[in-house]
Amino acid sequence: MISVRNVHKSFGSQVVLDGVTLDIEPGKTTAIVGPSGVGKSVLLKLIMGIMTPDKGEIFIEGENMTAARSESRKNHIRRSLGVLFQTAALFDSLTIYDNIAFPLVERNGLGAARAHQKVLDIAESLSLIEYLHNFPEQVSIGIRKRVGMARALITEPKVVLVDEPNTGLDPLDGQEVYDLINACKSQWGFTGLVISHELPEVFQVSDRVAMILGGRIISEGTPSEMIASPDAAVQQFLNGRTDGPIKIQ
Ligand SMILES: Nc1ncnc2c1ncn2[C@@H]1O[C@H](COP(=O)(O)OP(=O)(O)O)[C@@H](O)[C@H]1O
Ligand SMILES: [Mg+2]
Repeated sequence: MISVRNVHKSFGSQVVLDGVTLDIEPGKTTAIVGPSGVGKSVLLKLIMGIMTPDKGEIFIEGENMTAARSESRKNHIRRSLGVLFQTAALFDSLTIYDNIAFPLVERNGLGAARAHQKVLDIAESLSLIEYLHNFPEQVSIGIRKRVGMARALITEPKVVLVDEPNTGLDPLDGQEVYDLINACKSQWGFTGLVISHELPEVFQVSDRVAMILGGRIISEGTPSEMIASPDAAVQQFLNGRTDGPIKIQ
C-alpha cells in the first residue's frame, strides 16, 4: 500500500503538486493520468524518494519515505518497489542476463549462484531465455520492455511502478506492454501504479484511475466512474478535445 498525504512540490515559482492526497490500494492497479506536464513523473519520483516533497508525506508499506534521511534508509524502503521506467532504462553495456540480475546482485547483495536460478526462472516466465546473452541494442523495443519488467519483478516487489508504459512504442508493441502488465499481475499479484497520458488504453490495466490537474487530484474512482464524471476537464481529457478548461500547451 502506498499512501500520499497532502504532498506539495514546486520548482522555483512553478507549483507542480499543490496538495495531492491518494491511497494506492493493495493488490489493485491504480493509474495516475493527466495531460503532459501536470506532474505525474514528479509524483513517481517523490514516491521513489528520488525527490523530496516541500510539504506532506509519503508512506510505502507503512514506512515513511519522506522522513527517510539517509540513502541506506531510502534503499531499505525501496526494496518494496519494482520500477519499469519510460524507456526501460537498461544498461547498454550489460547483457540482458546481467541487466535482469542487476537488482539482486547490486541492490540486494545476493550471490551470483543464488541469483542465477532466479534469473532463469523469471526469464522463462517472460519468454526471454533465448535473449539472455544479447545486449539491449540487439533486441526489439518490445523485448527490452519485457527485460525491464523482468528486472522490476526479480526482487519480488510488493509494489510495481510503471511510468508511461507505451512511450516510443508503436500501437502493437504498446498493446503487448499492457498485456504483459496484466499477465505479470495475475502471476505475481502485486500492487500496481501506472502513470500514463493514454486514455482509454490504460484503462485495460487499471482497477482505479486518478487524474491530476492543476496540482491536485480532480477525479478518483474506477474507469467507469471516470467515464461517467460530469467534470468538464475530465471529459475534455477523456475525449482528447482541445477546447475546454484544460489549456493545451
Ligand atoms: N527537476 C526538475 N526541475 C525543474 N522542473 C522540473 C523538474 N522535474 C519536473 N519539472 C517540471 O515539473 C512539471 C511536471 O513534470 P512531469 O512530472 O515530468 O510531468 P508529466 O505529468 O508529463 O510526467 C514540468 O513543468 C517540468 O518541467
Ligand atoms: Mg512523465
